[in-house]
Amino acid sequence: MKDEQLLNLLDSMTLEEKIAQLVLLTGEFFDSEERSIGPKQKIGISQDVVDMAGAVYNVFGAEEVTKIQSDYLKKNKKGIPLLILADIIHGYKTVFPIPLGLGSTWNPDLVRECMEIVADETSASGVQGTFSPMVDLVRDPRWGRVMESTGEDSFLNSAFSSAMVTGFQGERLDASNRSIASCVKHFAAYGAPEGGREYNTVDMSERRLRQDYLPAYKAAVDSGSEMVMTSFNTVDGMPATGNKWLLQDILREEWGFQGIVLSDYAATQELILHGVAEDESDAARLAIEAGLDMDMKTSVFANNLFDLVKSGRISEGLVNQAALRILRLKNKLGLFEDPYRGASVQREQATLLSDGNRKMAREAAAQSVVLLKNNNAVLPIQSDKKVALIGPYSDEKLLCGMWAIQADYEAVVTLKEGMERLAAQASLFHAKGCDILEDYSVLGGMAKYLSVDTSPEDKEHYLRDAIQAAEQSDVIVLALGEHMFQSGEGASRTELSLPDHQLALLDELSLLSKPIVLLLFTGRPLVLTGLVDKVAAIVQAWYPGTEAGNALAELLYGERNFSGKLSMSFPHSVGQIPVYYNEFSTGRPLSVSGHSERFVSKYLDAPNAPLFPFGYGLSYTDFKYGEACLSHPSLNFGDAIQVSVDVTNTGELSGDEIVQLYIRDVTGSVVRPVKELKGFVKVNIEPGETTTVSFNINEELLRFYTIEKEYKAEPGKFIAMIGTSSDSFVEVEFNLLP
Ligand code: NOJ
Repeated sequence: MKDEQLLNLLDSMTLEEKIAQLVLLTGEFFDSEERSIGPKQKIGISQDVVDMAGAVYNVFGAEEVTKIQSDYLKKNKKGIPLLILADIIHGYKTVFPIPLGLGSTWNPDLVRECMEIVADETSASGVQGTFSPMVDLVRDPRWGRVMESTGEDSFLNSAFSSAMVTGFQGERLDASNRSIASCVKHFAAYGAPEGGREYNTVDMSERRLRQDYLPAYKAAVDSGSEMVMTSFNTVDGMPATGNKWLLQDILREEWGFQGIVLSDYAATQELILHGVAEDESDAARLAIEAGLDMDMKTSVFANNLFDLVKSGRISEGLVNQAALRILRLKNKLGLFEDPYRGASVQREQATLLSDGNRKMAREAAAQSVVLLKNNNAVLPIQSDKKVALIGPYSDEKLLCGMWAIQADYEAVVTLKEGMERLAAQASLFHAKGCDILEDYSVLGGMAKYLSVDTSPEDKEHYLRDAIQAAEQSDVIVLALGEHMFQSGEGASRTELSLPDHQLALLDELSLLSKPIVLLLFTGRPLVLTGLVDKVAAIVQAWYPGTEAGNALAELLYGERNFSGKLSMSFPHSVGQIPVYYNEFSTGRPLSVSGHSERFVSKYLDAPNAPLFPFGYGLSYTDFKYGEACLSHPSLNFGDAIQVSVDVTNTGELSGDEIVQLYIRDVTGSVVRPVKELKGFVKVNIEPGETTTVSFNINEELLRFYTIEKEYKAEPGKFIAMIGTSSDSFVEVEFNLLP
């Protein structure tokens, strides 16, 4: 449809029809299931609104979606198709690692390809847009949703943000049926709730917001994301959903965003509980005036905008504008020509969980796993070793993470299945050891659906079998972790440890004095301080998705090498949080000699550094870095210089190294971080070979939000650091000339 025709269509619509376009409902209104994630309540919407509603979310499957759309179109007088959206975050049926795992790949190209597959599978099943990517910067692992983010760094997050948007939408969203519209979230700064407590207040300086938190959302907008979802939190005292400064001044005016802004689940109504709107009518006014186009899961727009327009309290123009944006997206998706967008059962059969898709899931899983410790080369497991595979995650299919709401768990390869494919049967002994949880109340309201009731006798059996298996073996592979629902939405924690009974199992097994390889399935960095010395190796597996077992087995047996690096610091203790690599120096940094031991910025009872820093991850081989060299010691505005380093594989195995460039701006008009990631590249290096890695540095790379509130680079001294992690690098100085 031409834009002119869309405008004519808009002209022909009644006010009620236009308002209904702004309403986003869930499946139960369309004879489907209610699959929303959030507090359940009746939302009080008339059937008339449902028959004209603009969009529905979390309905799935070509058959079901086709029926919903065709029933809907029979009732919709203007023949405007429903927009069908969903929470498909990192996999539909084929599930890729959780985003924090994807972040550990440091491989945006791979992640783009994964999201192309997600788009293909999702669109085959009738969904036209996804509430992804979630690009909230995270520095506090107490917050359960760190699993949905790619980590603590704005440069890395921005690279993933645009890779994901491009993966979902292609270079530019069009009617081609294999792409889906993307919705970046949660705008803005949802990743910084005070105390790591879900839905809590966010308050930070504008400088920090712009410098650290906004870039990844902007990267999504610049890559053409069609939708933006507001966050639940406040930004400078105003909830994002009613925040005109955020939605108008920054998003629309500064960034030129022209797509749809939609609220998160019931966030319009929550304006009342936040205390900035008196009632639903006030909330509707505040939100639409702030720039919200679509209301998720409430009747706030549906039941109030009409009166607001008719009484002259808001202009009809606001409704028209929002409705037009929604019609435009429907048009881009080609819905007026094909409301089903090529979804079909045949396409589902050919696409979902196809061999190619699984192959990519295995690749992504293998790249997402991080080797944190490997003493005495206990890994890779040599083929003549007998292995005891123990732990609640040793033969578990719940390896997809909380947000893989459409995962096919039957299709998930467990660790045991994966290892059995590679190990001789006689050399693998298996025992569960214990359940993931003993006290299910830690899952809050979800306990009632998920509790497992194991008798004391069975618990004893589990333990006895585990000890027996361990006794017969040379090495113990111990698969422990959080319950999948201990992370994700509504899963903040103050203690970041494994459940006590899992720790007790580890203690029992350590009494046997056999090397233990600890595999960790978690949705967040845990505090591993007390564990590190008890085990020979630690493998951070996250939730690797459908191909988990195959990817992990290949890594454990050395069929492939580890390459993952942390995209979020692992704290030494909870009391250190937030702990992140790009901090400020402070006026009394610990590192400056000459200060007394006491009056410096430090803890009396813990180090300042995290246990495992950002960018850290081991390999089966070793990489040696030569000196950092500059093509020129100074840089002019408008020019570029190169900084390069020789990296040699000094070990005996082929390996992928993620070479990282950090830069420190030594003196600025405002305080600058001690280092900031400014480049990274993954290179494969064969044993004995040397590769030269170069990065371009130009003025644009050095820009920041200055004292003058402009994005500019300031002349002066800089330090370039190139290395294998944020705390291990070679460095060289250069100058930006005035
Ligand atoms: C609430 C979550 O914050 C958001 O990420 C999600 O997309 C919506 N619910 C819809 O399920």
